[in-house]
Amino acid sequence: MTTKKKELIVTSALPYANGPLHFGHLLEHIQTDIWVRSQRIVGNDCIYLCASDAHGTPIMMKAEEENVSPEKLVDKYMNEHKKTLRTFQVLHDCYYQTHSEENKKYSELIYNTALKNGYISKQNIKQLYDQERNLFLADRYVQGNCPKCNAPNQYGDNCDVCGAKYEATELLNPISIFSKKAPIIKESEHLFFTLTKLEKEIKEWIDKSSLQDSVINKLQEWFKDGLMDWDISRDAPYFGFKIPGFEEKFFYVWLDAPIGYIGTLEKFLKDSKNKLTAKDLWSENSTHEIYHFIGKDILNFHALFWPALLHAAQFKKPSNVFVHGFLTLNGNKMSKSKGNFLLADQYSSELKSDFLRYYLASKLTNKIDDIDFNLEDFQKKVNTDLVGKFINIASRVQKFLTTNDNKIGIDLDEDLIEDFQNETEAIFNDLINLDYSNACKRIMKLADTANQYIDHNQPWILAKESINQKEVIKISSTAMNLFRILNICLEPIIPETASKIKEYLNLKDDGLDNLNISIKNHEVQKFEPLIERIEDDKIDKLKEASKSE
Ligand code: 2FM
Ligand code: ZN
Repeated sequence: MTTKKKELIVTSALPYANGPLHFGHLLEHIQTDIWVRSQRIVGNDCIYLCASDAHGTPIMMKAEEENVSPEKLVDKYMNEHKKTLRTFQVLHDCYYQTHSEENKKYSELIYNTALKNGYISKQNIKQLYDQERNLFLADRYVQGNCPKCNAPNQYGDNCDVCGAKYEATELLNPISIFSKKAPIIKESEHLFFTLTKLEKEIKEWIDKSSLQDSVINKLQEWFKDGLMDWDISRDAPYFGFKIPGFEEKFFYVWLDAPIGYIGTLEKFLKDSKNKLTAKDLWSENSTHEIYHFIGKDILNFHALFWPALLHAAQFKKPSNVFVHGFLTLNGNKMSKSKGNFLLADQYSSELKSDFLRYYLASKLTNKIDDIDFNLEDFQKKVNTDLVGKFINIASRVQKFLTTNDNKIGIDLDEDLIEDFQNETEAIFNDLINLDYSNACKRIMKLADTANQYIDHNQPWILAKESINQKEVIKISSTAMNLFRILNICLEPIIPETASKIKEYLNLKDDGLDNLNISIKNHEVQKFEPLIERIEDDKIDKLKEASKSE
């Protein structure tokens, strides 16, 4: 397997701290967590980071609505998100927030360096302004008639009806969604990050990064359309960091959000009493590799602005950005208002996190196609694969070992065990290459082979005659060895179950290193059911929950 130990910094996109986590978030965090666990199992070091995305107008507005300070709101959701993700066995090394002193320091440093290097410009821009609320209106806070087709109730960026794209100031009869009054047009000076000067550097980064094909295609489309400089400032009132040298200007949330990855690393290093700083690990010549997991909707921020900004500020650019598609629910887009929505906590109050992790893994590839969570398919997949194929191997043979003092015996069908051992490299390669679906297929194919081995040898018939005792123990011990190998392969995907199985097998520190040594003359614990089938009532409850507000 891997020879030289790598040091990886891995992130999932930072969820906004203004509402509970839903299934879409889980897809990404579970995808990342499986990758981090796989990397660790093959011997690489990973620092897995995430944080609450704290800034911006929606959070400021939500805090106002709830009559709390934005800081309080962010803290509340940060703690809630942390707890939710833990219940899904997503184990970040640090889960922080972007409204932190560490992030402020790095946001200022990165901005100041980009400024010094000539990548910040100024431009006056005209925006809609709500005079009653003293607020510049972002596109989603204004509605009016489409300037092309006159359709009513369209937002400030594009028309749902005819698809036209336009500036908010072009809307006919615009109305602020806050005051319900017509906004005025007001001019103000904004700061721009000059992305246009960095096209060559972004392209060089893309060439080096082995991005997914569909990601490269999307980026090429953007280059064809022409890059534009990026507005990185917002006028007060705004919840964010003040821009050095200005009183009433703040960094746009999308400037300091990815810098939050670096701020969170700094917090992690401080908390773990490491003498290194985040700047050390993120410096241009750092040997650490940096990987971001994101959804396809935020590709421009991570594959254009982010590498360009890091270049301008002389920081290391990502080693790769892994992009996934959206999660649909029963074939349709998740939507609260359409009664097709599931919160993470609604799931975890009914079912084990490992079931969801396995189901998502069985569907995840390194493509950016959308993934459907279908409740019936989920139930069938978990019951067939995890319960019917995998756990069944141990359930079928464990009772025979009780006649051998609960010990795996000495005599084994070594050839079959070796076939399984030989397949683990391909399985872990699939996991590292983000083809979890193929890894699951390989594992279940092996589980079928293990069950066929038991079927073929029929230990339950042999066990009727005491003369066959040795043979029965051999078959059961071989099957238990196969089960153990599959358990290590499934560990990144179903960590809670895998750890229970390791306890049952009395092999707590088992891993890839010693997997090539079969288990012999080894006592196991008393067998308890390891997981149970998903019954219909659970699926019914989730269906109900998905329809509720
Ligand atoms: O789209 C989102 O939910 C953003 N909060 C993701 C930010 S990722 C990173 F850049 F901080
Ligand atoms: Zn229109």
